[in-house]
Amino acid sequence: VFAHLVQAPEDAILGVTIAYNKDPSPIKLNLGVGAYRTEEGKPLVLNVVRKAEQQLINDRSRIKEYLPIVGLGEFNKLSAKLILGADSPAIRENRVTTVECLSGTGSLRVGGEFLARHYHQKTIYIPQPTWGNHPKIFTLAGLSVKTYRYYDPSTRGLNFQGLLEDLGAAPQGSIVLLHACAHNPTGVDPTLEQWEQIRKLMRSKGLMPFFDSAYQGFASGSLDTDAKPIRMFVADGGELLVAQSYAKNMGLYGERVGALSIVCKAADVAGRVESQLKLVIRPMYSNPPIHGASIVAVILRDRNLFNEWTLELKAMADRIISMRKQLFEALRARGTPGDWTHIIKQIGMFTFTGLNPAQVSYMTKEYHIYMTSDGRISMAGLSSKTVPHLADAIHAVVTK
Ligand code: LMR
Repeated sequence: VFAHLVQAPEDAILGVTIAYNKDPSPIKLNLGVGAYRTEEGKPLVLNVVRKAEQQLINDRSRIKEYLPIVGLGEFNKLSAKLILGADSPAIRENRVTTVECLSGTGSLRVGGEFLARHYHQKTIYIPQPTWGNHPKIFTLAGLSVKTYRYYDPSTRGLNFQGLLEDLGAAPQGSIVLLHACAHNPTGVDPTLEQWEQIRKLMRSKGLMPFFDSAYQGFASGSLDTDAKPIRMFVADGGELLVAQSYAKNMGLYGERVGALSIVCKAADVAGRVESQLKLVIRPMYSNPPIHGASIVAVILRDRNLFNEWTLELKAMADRIISMRKQLFEALRARGTPGDWTHIIKQIGMFTFTGLNPAQVSYMTKEYHIYMTSDGRISMAGLSSKTVPHLADAIHAVVTK
């Protein structure tokens, strides 16, 4: 009965890793998926994570019972504090409901489905371009997806005018997906002044902010600084949704740990929102896993572990910044034609190089360098040893 099925294409991002794994070349380099690597090109388990896991193993009272539908209560409280700030008025006034979800993707999906069921507007505006999974998540959640202008290829920066025009023209009350920091794939974020203008415009039109926070701590190296845009929207007393992921900033990729917070206008509303979120989650996956959320809770509740985490996070962010400088210098040393300053200007894990799909495929074929076809490279996958190889490939493809 399934014989009529056609072979589905691989995922645009995760499929890059599959192709990379099949390549026997000793010089192959995977700059596709946004996953942190050490200078030796190895995945990293943070020291604080190992310590937290040790604590969990030593605690013989721990059991493996089902969590509640909304997940681990302590994790939820600590996650809301991490993203909204310990002194957030919304937390103080019990206007926030937070549920543990399956990393960023799961949080976006649960939030999307909640909005599709209960919010009066069913259209979500996502930036152009955005993470390839966004349109699929929201479409399957039952929302209709439209885009707003975000990136200007001619400046390799923000198309702020286009963004304001498109959000200004969106129907009253539409949902707007905003990357909290370190925009994926472009590495281009609004300034705080621009965020303030976006906030004013959105609030004046009753547009509902849905923040995707997948890189808190990776843009500036500071958890609080990276959460500022969200906190500006909380400070005005209005509603919003935020999806948090611990994949990148705690390196908990495969643990699938994240949280969805919905900031409401009153505590009783937040309580009812939570009751409805449970109705979304229960038939989807019943309740979330316990291990990853327990690791996060151990780290966030303990001042020493928390401080150690911020140092490890900063070290990851700094290594990425150093990769940006090294790649930029390597291209300059080769006299590679073109303006490559965007490599050092863009922030977060990715550089949106401006290379086109044909150039990307040439680099993969001739240099065994793997990246997404839109020209995005994960700077976190690069090391001092591999920068020259990448610079050689870029130089060859743009001078060819
Ligand atoms: C990425 O953009 O590479 C990451 O967010 C990983 C993923 O799931 O796509």
